[in-house]
Amino acid sequence: MQVSNSLKPALDAIGTAMDQRFDRLLPVPRDGRDRLYQGMRHAVIGGGKRMRPLLVVAACDLFHVDRERALRVAVAIECVHCYSLIHDDLPCMDDDDLRRGKPTVHKAYDEATAVLAGDSLHALAFEILADPATHGDPAARAELVLELAKASGPNGMAGGQMMDIAATDEAFDLGETTRLQQLKTGALIGFCLEAGAIMGRIPEQGRTPLRGYARDLGLAFQIADDLLDVEGSSAKTGKAVGKDAAAGKATFVSLLGIERARTQAAMLIDQAIDHLHSFGAEADLLRAIARFAIARDF
Ligand code: IPE
Ligand code: IPE
Ligand code: MG
Ligand code: MG
Ligand code: MG
Repeated sequence: MQVSNSLKPALDAIGTAMDQRFDRLLPVPRDGRDRLYQGMRHAVIGGGKRMRPLLVVAACDLFHVDRERALRVAVAIECVHCYSLIHDDLPCMDDDDLRRGKPTVHKAYDEATAVLAGDSLHALAFEILADPATHGDPAARAELVLELAKASGPNGMAGGQMMDIAATDEAFDLGETTRLQQLKTGALIGFCLEAGAIMGRIPEQGRTPLRGYARDLGLAFQIADDLLDVEGSSAKTGKAVGKDAAAGKATFVSLLGIERARTQAAMLIDQAIDHLHSFGAEADLLRAIARFAIARDF
């Protein structure tokens, strides 16, 4: 299975919604910033699975959040995700030429444009979250900003990226590798679910199931990414494959081998879905996304 029949329309719809919103959000100005905007558009329009935006919408739907507002949060997290990909692909990091089936931003433009496009998308995410159009309650907006800042920074994605680099020089064990993956990939995925609860003004104690789901999904998603680097095809993933082993990356696949990594990912997804047991059919989209996270071939 690559994409289940139930998930395909949802993925297509969120892809279209994101493309439309980014197109409106980023008109190219007629001044010296045109190249910057073109670089940003290159990174955010026309590609990607849009799994994080779909997670935001699915989590918001649980709590009957207005769809337009949910989509603003979806755009914000996709901004941070795309910024992380632009910088991840730079020569000083993974040095990749292909992303989402297109040249990476530093290849299509240049390194300075790629750095600044990443910086700009990062800032734009917070601008969107802090805007009153995202939520009428300033406390909710402040909480969104706080959580995205935590998930993106040294105790989230950026910290995980640093550990990813450190792990190529020293041997990381399973515990350290788990922590690396939780920060690098899990933190932004965690934000998607937390954002649903924040938008719905759900109190702390009501958020436990979503946090458990997000933790297991984030790890399983990165294991699937690491498996695709070994077994996947560049034609399908739209990025280079076979690079992690060559670079000496610490992954579950390098530590456990293909079979055990696959078993581990499947177990994590079963666990993720178990966390949703208190929800009924309204959580079916979250269940379908979890299955897709490891069944995908792209
Ligand atoms: C790739 O993320 C980077 C990781 C965190 C593993 P995705 O696999 O979600 O990339 P896109 O958005 O579909 O391109
Ligand atoms: C990147 O992980 C994670 C982030 C961008 C934060 P990878 O380096 O494995 O992602 P890909 O394989 O290049 O998409
Ligand atoms: Mg990387
Ligand atoms: Mg990479
Ligand atoms: Mg990878």
